[in-house]
Amino acid sequence: MLTDSSNVFVTGATGLIGGELVRTLAAQPLGKIWALVRVAHDGSPAARLDHRLRRSGALLTGGTGAPPRALAGDVTAPQLGLSAADYEEVRRDVDIIIHSAAETSFIRAADCRRTNIAGAENLVAFSRACRRQPLLVCLSTAYVSGTMANTCISEEDACRPGSEHHNEYTRSKAVAEELVRSSGVPVLVVRPSIVLSAGVPDAAFARAILGFAPLLRELDAVPVSPHARADTVPVQFVVDSLVRLLQLPRLRFDCYHISGGEAAVEHAHLARIFDRFYEREVPLRLIPPAQWTRETHRTYVATPEQRRVFAALRNYLPFLNMNVLFENSRLRAELGDRFPALPPFTAYLEELLRLISRGRHALRLGPSARAARAARHARVRAATG
Ligand SMILES: NC(=O)c1ccc[n+]([C@@H]2O[C@H](COP(=O)([O-])OP(=O)(O)OC[C@H]3O[C@@H](n4cnc5c(N)ncnc54)[C@H](OP(=O)(O)O)[C@@H]3O)[C@@H](O)[C@H]2O)c1
Repeated sequence: MLTDSSNVFVTGATGLIGGELVRTLAAQPLGKIWALVRVAHDGSPAARLDHRLRRSGALLTGGTGAPPRALAGDVTAPQLGLSAADYEEVRRDVDIIIHSAAETSFIRAADCRRTNIAGAENLVAFSRACRRQPLLVCLSTAYVSGTMANTCISEEDACRPGSEHHNEYTRSKAVAEELVRSSGVPVLVVRPSIVLSAGVPDAAFARAILGFAPLLRELDAVPVSPHARADTVPVQFVVDSLVRLLQLPRLRFDCYHISGGEAAVEHAHLARIFDRFYEREVPLRLIPPAQWTRETHRTYVATPEQRRVFAALRNYLPFLNMNVLFENSRLRAELGDRFPALPPFTAYLEELLRLISRGRHALRLGPSARAARAARHARVRAATG
């Protein structure tokens, strides 16, 4: 249980969720907070952590413990790559380990295996070596379910390392989750669905999931089921849910979805928000994948630019079309009236699109691309009456 004297060790603190978590923990009365941070051989972990926390704006105030201390390390290294002194201090004093570090790329398969599976093994070994039998909290993902479709999944149905997966990221997370849960160390697994950086004023975090949104301007149709839904949650909901679970004296389960469940909205609804935001003259058409024939593909993915954009979308399409939601009734029941605010995607989508379009790497259309798009729209309007 997280109390005002708990000492907490966090991995992945420079990431979206880990950074918000450290920020939130630092605002609570707590014992020590250590954050494991990767650095180049001569880099400063403190500077990296400080840089990450600043990406969220001002530090939250209210904490009465020591400020978070960044420790250089790497979850794939023996003894987590900690110096002997840091290793000994954390090993001796830690009460709760929150493992948020991961390779989250959808394309770097070998890195996913190395960081997510070997990393989890190292965290289990570290937990075993710790003096106080700490609780090992693992940030898994709701998508450990693999390639399911058109369903709402509960925690019992979910982890399927041996099933088909859309990519090595979710498969490696499923393997990692299973090895952690069968390790015998005290474990809590939380499985967020798709986490969006709502409220974090940083374009790069917004782009991590929604980077494909500006690219959609290049296309007039995509193979996405209009009535499918994807389960999304804002990052603060994930962090607040986790912290509140940890504050409970006893948990009924060792695994919780942190998800939106039935609150998810249909893609057709989101597409109209994209249309408005990008001032599309012709609404983006969502065509169910079963109706997306070769002919449709040739019609709508015709120019070199459209081919480039479509290739960039390919990794996301399977997830958009799964139409899978993740039940959150277990979390709701456990937290009761402390269940955190859960705004729908529609409440923060435009804020994220605005951030992305202001970002340094935003896709900007030159005058010739703008003219080509206007001509294309005119053709589509003429063809569709
Ligand atoms: N975001 C989502 O939609 C989502 C959804 C469900 C579950 N999750 C899970 O939640 C956790 C956090 O996700 P996130 O979105 O915050 O990820 P993220 O933004 O990609 O951050 C990943 C973090 O892991 C660190 N890391 C990677 N390899 C490492 C290594 N070898 N040693 C030490 N640290 C390493 C990264 O450090 P560097 O800064 O040095 O790269 C970074 O701090 C992950 O376990 C992820 O699988 C995320």
